[in-house]
Amino acid sequence: MLRIEGLNGGYGDVQILWDVNLEIEEGCVTALVGANGVGKTTLIRTLAGALPPYTGRIIFDGEDITGISQPKRAAMGIMMVPEGRQLYSGLSVEDNLFMGAYVRHDRKAIREDLEWVYTILPRLKERRKQLAGTLSGGEAQMCAVGRGLMASPRVLLLDELSLGLAPVAVDSLVGVLKDIQAKKGISILLVDQDVQVALGIAKKGYVFVHGHVEISGDSKALLENPDIQKAYLGI
Ligand SMILES: Nc1ncnc2c1ncn2[C@@H]1O[C@H](COP(=O)(O)OP(=O)(O)OP(=O)(O)O)[C@@H](O)[C@H]1O
Ligand SMILES: [Mg+2]
Repeated sequence: MLRIEGLNGGYGDVQILWDVNLEIEEGCVTALVGANGVGKTTLIRTLAGALPPYTGRIIFDGEDITGISQPKRAAMGIMMVPEGRQLYSGLSVEDNLFMGAYVRHDRKAIREDLEWVYTILPRLKERRKQLAGTLSGGEAQMCAVGRGLMASPRVLLLDELSLGLAPVAVDSLVGVLKDIQAKKGISILLVDQDVQVALGIAKKGYVFVHGHVEISGDSKALLENPDIQKAYLGI
């Protein structure tokens, strides 16, 4: 449903992405893994429309969206959950969740989605009046995911799900992601430092090296291949 073709991009003169080709399949989790600084966040930002690419194309449902702005992409259903969460720390949890729906006008459906987010992430309901800046790391991550879901996305671009979280918090968020995907058919591009987590829930995986897709394939096969483990995954 979302396809990247021959994408080159970066910051000014500093090219980070080199001829990237990648596909996010409808209703699936796709993983993007790679070492620090290889360009995973840069790719996610480029996909979300926060950073224009130098060359190449981004195709969504057969339509070229390369030149389309971030808010328009959000309205089309492409939503980023940014690295480092980037919540509005002075706003309540609930107001942060509403910010996720900023491009929507369907007030009744927004209310229903808020209730749905509270059902799948009940901790957020308990904390709905609390300032986001005072949440624990795990709660903040839940709030960031919840805010992404409030956009009613078709594709969620999730940058670093497990960073700084205890294994039990990661397990619970992974459970939520599986639920989202099964019940709502939302497609997910998952970037995570923890390759076991990312490839563990994804159908297909892409391994990034120096801003380029070095290897891709069925994620279970990638995880189980000892040569790939040693060369690229550090496990
Ligand atoms: N605004 C910017 N201006 C210039 N260079 C940048 C900017 N943002 C990131 N970079 C550089 O681009 C490269 C790729 O960064 P990016 O954040 O995409 O990596 P990453 O794969 O997400 O890393 P990590 O796993 O640490 O999150 C890095 O060398 C980084 O320093
Ligand atoms: Mg990053």
